[in-house]
Amino acid sequence: MQASAQAQPNVALVKYWGKRDTELNIPAVASLSVTLDALWTRTRVTFDPALDEDVLRVGGQSDTPSNQVERTTRCLDQLRRLAGIDTRAHIDTENNFPTGAGLASSASGFAALVTAGAEALGLKLTAAQRSALARQSSGSAARSIFGGFVELDPDSGALNGTATPLLAPEAWRLEVTIAVTSKQPKALGSTDGMNLTARTSDYYDAWVGTARGDLHAARRAVAERDFDSLARVSERSCLKMHGLMLSADPGLIYWNGVTVECIREIRALRHAGVPVFFTIDAGPQVKAISLPGAAAQVRDALRTVPGVLDVMHSGLGQGARLVPEGPCG
Ligand code: DP6
Repeated sequence: MQASAQAQPNVALVKYWGKRDTELNIPAVASLSVTLDALWTRTRVTFDPALDEDVLRVGGQSDTPSNQVERTTRCLDQLRRLAGIDTRAHIDTENNFPTGAGLASSASGFAALVTAGAEALGLKLTAAQRSALARQSSGSAARSIFGGFVELDPDSGALNGTATPLLAPEAWRLEVTIAVTSKQPKALGSTDGMNLTARTSDYYDAWVGTARGDLHAARRAVAERDFDSLARVSERSCLKMHGLMLSADPGLIYWNGVTVECIREIRALRHAGVPVFFTIDAGPQVKAISLPGAAAQVRDALRTVPGVLDVMHSGLGQGARLVPEGPCG
């Protein structure tokens, strides 16, 4: 009745923003991401018949906001239904990076939770089934079930909205440098931000209508290891998503001034011949993707940008998997 799992966040190069089905949490657009290796979530799930409700501890603390506990319970409810039981669980989880600040803690969090929870209940689920279950809790979590380059296309596959791996992490060793520009939790979470955007932006239909072209361009760039093409489509998808967010009513601004300075720095590096491009999710942190060997130069340059609080580095890593010991264990 107990199992532990580790999952890593992923960084979307072609972005998911907007839902086709809010009940099942099926994305309105296809996305493509890379799974990281240096950042991780570790989660231990222990089902305990003595409990009346799920007990969630994050980093050893039990004062977790109630909406996080509810999301965790909803995710475990799917597994309990499959197992035909109603037993509640202790969930101990820990991240080695700041949560809720646009570093995709929900992606690694739900991928680890589904993987540990299914094992603890003795459910023999395939990775695709775990991906579909993780997606119902958080769209990007479906992608963290897999490692390397991963696609989530709501129009393909037997299970709607299941991620599929495209390329192993060893096949193209891109590096990711993260400039942390704020450690505050974001003002509006992705789910609410997406729903507001879909409801109010005049640009939403154009976003949905052009996403498939971006997916195809990125898929081709990955298959051909064509860095320049991947840089072009990734920056286009990122800026288009942030343009869309700005066009919501009221407009959503996830960036701060330092975010913009980091973009300028990365573009200057590229113009100087360094193989690097940027992407930014629903938060102010900037992720710089580079070819092997260029990360040290990218890191040094981002450290000089006034206001950058921290610079982290990661390679590409594996998907969610069971681990012998959970957090603090
Ligand atoms: C900007 O997966 O966090 O990071 O499905 O509502 O939980 P929910 O949203 P979430 O959104 C991720 C949005 C993004 C882009 C991306 O990861 O594709």
